[in-house]
Amino acid sequence: MRSLIVLLIAILIANFTNGDFWKMRESLIEREKNHVLGASIVLSDQEELVNKLLMSYKLQELDEAYQNPANFAPSKYFFHTRAKIENSPVYKLLRLMPKGGALHGHSTALATPDFLHGLTYKDNLYGCRLNGVFQLRFLQNGNQDNTCKWKLIDTLRKMDLNFDEWLRSQFVMFRENFNEIYRNENQIWSIFERTFTTARGLVTHRPVFEEYFYEALRLLYDDNVMYLEFRSTLPQLYELNGTTYKSEDTLQFYQSVIGKFMEGHPKFIGARLIYAPYRNNDNVTFNAISTTLYNIQMRYPTILAGFDLVGHEDSGTSLLKYAWEVKRIAKLGINFYFHAGETIWYQSDTDYNVIDAILLGSKRIGHALGLTKHPVALEMIKERNIPIEVCPISNQVLLYVDDLRNHPASFLIANGFPIVISYDDPSAWNVTGLSYDFYMTFMAIAGRGADLKLLKQLSINSILYSSLSLNERKVALKSWEADWDSFIKNIHLLKF
Ligand SMILES: *[C@@H]1O[C@H](CO)[C@@H](O)[C@H](O)[C@H]1NC(C)=O
Ligand SMILES: *[C@@H]1O[C@H](CO)[C@@H](O)[C@H](O)[C@H]1NC(C)=O
Ligand SMILES: *[C@@H]1O[C@H](CO)[C@@H](O)[C@H](O)[C@H]1NC(C)=O
Ligand SMILES: [Zn+2]
Repeated sequence: MRSLIVLLIAILIANFTNGDFWKMRESLIEREKNHVLGASIVLSDQEELVNKLLMSYKLQELDEAYQNPANFAPSKYFFHTRAKIENSPVYKLLRLMPKGGALHGHSTALATPDFLHGLTYKDNLYGCRLNGVFQLRFLQNGNQDNTCKWKLIDTLRKMDLNFDEWLRSQFVMFRENFNEIYRNENQIWSIFERTFTTARGLVTHRPVFEEYFYEALRLLYDDNVMYLEFRSTLPQLYELNGTTYKSEDTLQFYQSVIGKFMEGHPKFIGARLIYAPYRNNDNVTFNAISTTLYNIQMRYPTILAGFDLVGHEDSGTSLLKYAWEVKRIAKLGINFYFHAGETIWYQSDTDYNVIDAILLGSKRIGHALGLTKHPVALEMIKERNIPIEVCPISNQVLLYVDDLRNHPASFLIANGFPIVISYDDPSAWNVTGLSYDFYMTFMAIAGRGADLKLLKQLSINSILYSSLSLNERKVALKSWEADWDSFIKNIHLLKF
């Protein structure tokens, strides 16, 4: 017996020294690398140089954090780390990198809270606490609307020295004592929704609406993002004299802003709409939705990308309950881009929204946080090539993921699933552009070895998986490629 053990050990050692273990290890790791998103990209010599620079920044930052994990920004709540991220050379490089398009963003949360606050200095703006939330409205005089005791913002401002600091804070989710007051997704969603409620009467005033949306496009452009697919509830806009417009009329204002922006920014590819009414509005009637969609198709055929439902999924109506209506809408030739599975409740109705989104033919899926718990759904996603819209900061701020190293998209990246990175509601967490979310993805969700190949793939994906036609995507890719080449060529001129 003893001699047998000795013999076994001898054989093992022989195998080791023969290199079987090392060879196997090497080949296993190599095989895994081939699965990672971006693995098929081949970098040019010039790109390799940029990659070297990028990776030296990345590894230095990771090594420092490994020694002192308390300094690793993606592991901590975003509101406490944004300043640190802004100082990172990786982040600075990401800002300069052409990132393609933003495919998941909500139209009234795309500029900054400070921009919103700046808009409150306009004439004729009134404020009032309505249903427990401070709301804003442009009125000719305080009596024009009697649902509330409206007071001129100008007056409130003069009465209270701290008014502006307070008002500014209503547009963003951050509070000093955050950890004590918001402990779960439901609580956080209520404060999140308040930011929208306060901003609504401000941004739905037609002239402000145009100004706000223009700023949203400008912020993307500044971050080297050249295309946008925005979700909009199509709020009814109003004029100072009380004239209100129909939902579908909102399109004409979107379209004119996009046109104006593209005139001044020829590199910008455009912006398209995903019409997305609230899922938990009892008054959602699919007859009205179908009519609106039909009218949009007739009047503004080029801007419509498709349909979605928005709002807190866990407390909202599940996709399954709308399945019949959704199938009817499909008959109009409308594509779907559903939010589905923005939940951490495994096998809840919300979790199963992912399954329903796939079966209902969703072209992309927003969040899908529980997807990795559904093996068959994963197979279908791969087979049908359905990309997941990953919004890391949103998921963290809304308390679905704590430390972003634990984000489920790690699995998707490791297995080469098609994903795109986006920013969801940047104004609620005071973010501009996609670079913060790219930073989180690159530094925490993807592996230490993930490099420029991943970033390039993510940028390409955002055009490949957009709603643009095949031809438009070709044109968009060409334009992105030109930007990318110039980024690669000129990087040595840039300062970090
Ligand atoms: C209200 O204002 C808008 C925009 O200034 C204008 O087009 C419209 O004619 C006005 N309507 C009335 C009834 O005055
Ligand atoms: C539905 O609409 C009716 C009439 O407009 C309104 O009175 C009611 O409050 C609405 N219900 C909800 C839940 O929004
Ligand atoms: C948003 O971030 C900027 C820094 O980039 C900061 O100056 C500003 O105070 C922040 N705004 C709010 C409302 O927190
Ligand atoms: Zn969203």
